[in-house]
Amino acid sequence: MFRIGVLQNHPRFLKVRENIAEAFSLMEKSRADLWVLPEFFATGYNFKTQKEVSSVAEPISNGMTSGLLSSWAKKNDCAVIAGLPEKWGAKIYNSAVFVTADSVSVYRKTHLFGAEKKFFSPGNTGFWTRSFKGVQVGLMICFDWFFPESARTLSLKGAQIIAHPANLVLPWAPEGMKIRSLENRVFTATANRVGAERGLRYIGSSQITSPKGELLSRLSGTRAGISVIAIDPAKALDKKINKANDLFKDRREKFYV
Ligand code: ACM
Repeated sequence: MFRIGVLQNHPRFLKVRENIAEAFSLMEKSRADLWVLPEFFATGYNFKTQKEVSSVAEPISNGMTSGLLSSWAKKNDCAVIAGLPEKWGAKIYNSAVFVTADSVSVYRKTHLFGAEKKFFSPGNTGFWTRSFKGVQVGLMICFDWFFPESARTLSLKGAQIIAHPANLVLPWAPEGMKIRSLENRVFTATANRVGAERGLRYIGSSQITSPKGELLSRLSGTRAGISVIAIDPAKALDKKINKANDLFKDRREKFYV
């Protein structure tokens, strides 16, 4: 069995150190093999100026946030996936890191949402997966979910779990992610934040879904918290729907655009 945890926090805008400390104190209440944290979990989201974004954007390779996440992953023998504004030369990406004791990989958000287009460069990493403790994990960030190609690409690349750091403000993702699970036969773990920030209200409801589209856990719409459950990742390797149909083998690619 493999334990997945989702963290649902209420970050204070631009208070990075305090937000990281608070996230760790919530995560210390349980044990997981893989923790998924929200998009921009330590900075807040609703930026109004490029100056604000620049003041909290960090490089991945030697940045404070990646460093603290790496130490935590090492100490707790786990992987952590978490969203942060990434500084890369003159560019800033809406990124998520996949951190283990001895490695850090980065995914840069493919589909930018709303005002993000003013402040962030469109992601250029594409979708990828990597193995941790024998389980293939992929990631996408928040609004990426609205494009079924994101989860489909990750699944075709072998993802058994799709980690989904989010700062959801629209109402549809919690139900929609059940469909992403079902149509790809994968587990998904959406970590969202709660609270209001400069006129935006985040919907919480962080959740974990199964390859059958079942809701395995869902947190509240308003309170910070964690949820950890044990899953059997092998269930995501079975793409058969019945004796005659296999979700991937039955695809008719020549008819798709
Ligand atoms: C979003 O992509 N943060 C809605």
